[in-house]
Amino acid sequence: MADEEFDSNKTFLASVERSKQIEADIQVNPQKYRVLTGDRPTGNLHIGHYFGSLQNRVRLAKLGVPTMILIADYQVLTDHDAFDKISQNTKQLVIDYLAAGIEPGENVIIYPHSYIPECNQLMLPFMTLVSNAELSRNPTVKEEIASAGLTNVNAGMYTYPIHQACDILFCKGNVVPVGKDQLPHIELTRNIAKAFNRKFCKNREPVFPLPQALLSKTPSILGLDGSQKMSKSRGNAIFLCSTEDETAYLIKKAKTDSERVITYDPENRPEVANLLMLISLCTKEEPADIAERIGEKGSGELKKVLAEALNEELRPLRQKRAELEKNPDYIRQVLLEGVEKARAIAIKTLDEVREAMNMKI
Ligand code: TRP
Repeated sequence: MADEEFDSNKTFLASVERSKQIEADIQVNPQKYRVLTGDRPTGNLHIGHYFGSLQNRVRLAKLGVPTMILIADYQVLTDHDAFDKISQNTKQLVIDYLAAGIEPGENVIIYPHSYIPECNQLMLPFMTLVSNAELSRNPTVKEEIASAGLTNVNAGMYTYPIHQACDILFCKGNVVPVGKDQLPHIELTRNIAKAFNRKFCKNREPVFPLPQALLSKTPSILGLDGSQKMSKSRGNAIFLCSTEDETAYLIKKAKTDSERVITYDPENRPEVANLLMLISLCTKEEPADIAERIGEKGSGELKKVLAEALNEELRPLRQKRAELEKNPDYIRQVLLEGVEKARAIAIKTLDEVREAMNMKI
C-alpha cells in the first residue's frame, strides 16, 4: 500500500513537472499539439469545472492548439443505472461549453464518442494489449466502485479506461488536460500506445504518439460544505446555469467557521480560504488582500462580496447560455459537424491500425 501511494505520488510530481514544460512549449508551437479532453454527460457544469478546466480549454483553443472535446456518453453506463437524461445532458454540456467561450470550427470540435464507430473499434485490439491485473489495480476505478457503492461491478467499469485510451489515441491526441484523478488512465493510454507500437510497428513508423497529461494550475475547488471537492453528486455546487439569486442563496448557506475576523489561512481555515480563493479567481486580487479588506466585517460580508463577484464574472456567460437554450437546432448542428470531423479522423487512424496489424484485405 505504502509503495502504491509512493508510486502514485511520484507519477503526480512527474506530471506536474512535464505539465510545466508542455505549457512553455505550447505557447511557441501550438500546432505541434492536439488537445483532447472530455466530460461525462451526467449533468450541468459547475464553477469547479469553469475555473478548473473550461477556462483552460478556452485559453488553449485561443492559442491555436487543435482541440477535440468529447462527450463520454458510454462512460455514463459504467456506474449509473439511469440513462434517461444522457441526450439532454449532452446538449446541456454543449451549451455550457459554448457559453464559456469554446468556439467550434476548423480547430475545435465537440462530439459524443458513441457516434464514432471507428474510434470504438480500436477497443478490440487495445483490449489484447492490457492485462486483467493492470485493470483491476487502477486506483480511480477502485475509488469509483467504492463511492458508487457498487457490489456487482460490470465489465464496462473495469474496461472503460481502455476505451478512454481509444478516445485519446484515435485522433493521436498528445496533450490531455485533466485532474489528478485521471492520471492512471493517461498512464494506461501511454502503455497501450507503447505496446501497440512495439508489437505492430516493428518495421514501420509508430502509429501512436505517447500522450501527456496537462494538469490544471487552478487548485482544486471545494464545495460549499467546505469539506470535499465541489461536485454535483455531493450537492455542494454552484452551477453555471444557476440564477443570480440561487447563487447568492447557495453562498449564504456555505459553511464557514466560528472565528469572526476574516483571514486567509488555507491550512487552518479551509472553508473561508476556499471562498476567498473563489473571489480571487473572479477579481484576480490576492486572497490575502481580499481577506484583509473584509477583516472585521466577518463572514456575512465575505459571502456578499463573493456572490457579487461570481455573479458579475458569470453574467455574460449566463446571458449567452440563455440565448443558446433558445436554439436547440444550432446545438444539434454543432454536434453533427463535430461527429463528421471526428469520424474522418477515426477512419484514417483505423486504416493505419488495420494495416499495421496485417488485416487489410
Ligand atoms: N473519464 C473522464 C471523466 O470522468 C471523461 C473522459 C472520457 C475523458 N474520455 C476521456 C477525459 C478522454 C479525458 C480524455 O471526467
